[in-house]
Amino acid sequence: MFENQTIAFIGAGIMGEAMIRGLLTQEIVKPDQIIASDPWPERLEYLQGQYGVQTTTDNTIAAETGQVIVLSIKPQSLDKVMPDVRGHLRRRDLLVSILAGVPIRKLADGMAHASVVRAMPNTPAQIGQGITVWTATKEVEESHKQQAQAILGSFGDQVFMEDERYLDMATALSGTGPAYVFMVMEAMIDAGVHLGFSRHIATKLVFQTMRGSVEYAAQSSKHVAELRNQVTSPGGTTASALYHLEKGGLRTVLSRGIWAAYERSVELGRGQKEDHPQQS
Ligand SMILES: NC(=O)c1ccc[n+]([C@@H]2O[C@H](COP(=O)([O-])OP(=O)(O)OC[C@H]3O[C@@H](n4cnc5c(N)ncnc54)[C@H](OP(=O)(O)O)[C@@H]3O)[C@@H](O)[C@H]2O)c1
Repeated sequence: MFENQTIAFIGAGIMGEAMIRGLLTQEIVKPDQIIASDPWPERLEYLQGQYGVQTTTDNTIAAETGQVIVLSIKPQSLDKVMPDVRGHLRRRDLLVSILAGVPIRKLADGMAHASVVRAMPNTPAQIGQGITVWTATKEVEESHKQQAQAILGSFGDQVFMEDERYLDMATALSGTGPAYVFMVMEAMIDAGVHLGFSRHIATKLVFQTMRGSVEYAAQSSKHVAELRNQVTSPGGTTASALYHLEKGGLRTVLSRGIWAAYERSVELGRGQKEDHPQQS
């Protein structure tokens, strides 16, 4: 699928490395079919040593070398990187962006390039367990869509959505999602310590409860509400806990938080960087 082609990563930080690792682990491409550019030479030395990929500090060289160019910089670096790439892409190249909150139109216009994929991965990509939602401009041809699917599926699961509006929703639900899960885990561990467990044991109990519950729900054909009911005996301990979680508004708080992340993603996409979300 990538015969005689090179994938260029512009920005080789956490997500760039996760993607490189996924591509090589899944043997989608060989190390010499990847070039990574980053301003930090020590970072490039590490990537070269660890993965055997080509490296450069020059974004233009990376853009000209790759047939698939992955933008994995922070969104705030985009204006600086744009002139390095603009005018250096060939018509048949595919541009893939994982930049949170940057609309596909801004990328296509800014880079003067029609064939653009916009993707929203999440950090479990670092262990090959990410989930990425992506969309493409209508100019992205079928073979390029297959390439995008292979790249984005190499570090976890992937979902294609025709309409770009779902990218803001995915940003709020799955892109930001690990932060919600980590916060819930932290709260449960602290509650275990409050009860009297050592932090080490509380952490072990919470990690395996999370892991086991997710796996159980994924393997079960039952609705998650039914699985929850299975744990809830009449007049029992779970019923007591659930009463307080509902009374404290757990579901509404989660829903409000995710909605706020969605609204913020839409705002950032409109370029309203200085605005801050309502704290009410
Ligand atoms: N982390 C997440 O949860 C997550 C989830 C979904 C999507 N994303 C998106 O993924 C993108 C990358 O995030 P990340 O967490 O991987 O960030 P990161 O670790 O900071 O990686 C960005 C890399 O780009 C480099 N860079 C900075 N300026 C550059 C330039 N002018 N030219 C080339 N490279 C440059 C940075 O180098 P220096 O360190 O030297 O500045 C860094 O190595 C972001 O756009 C983010 O929105 C992140």
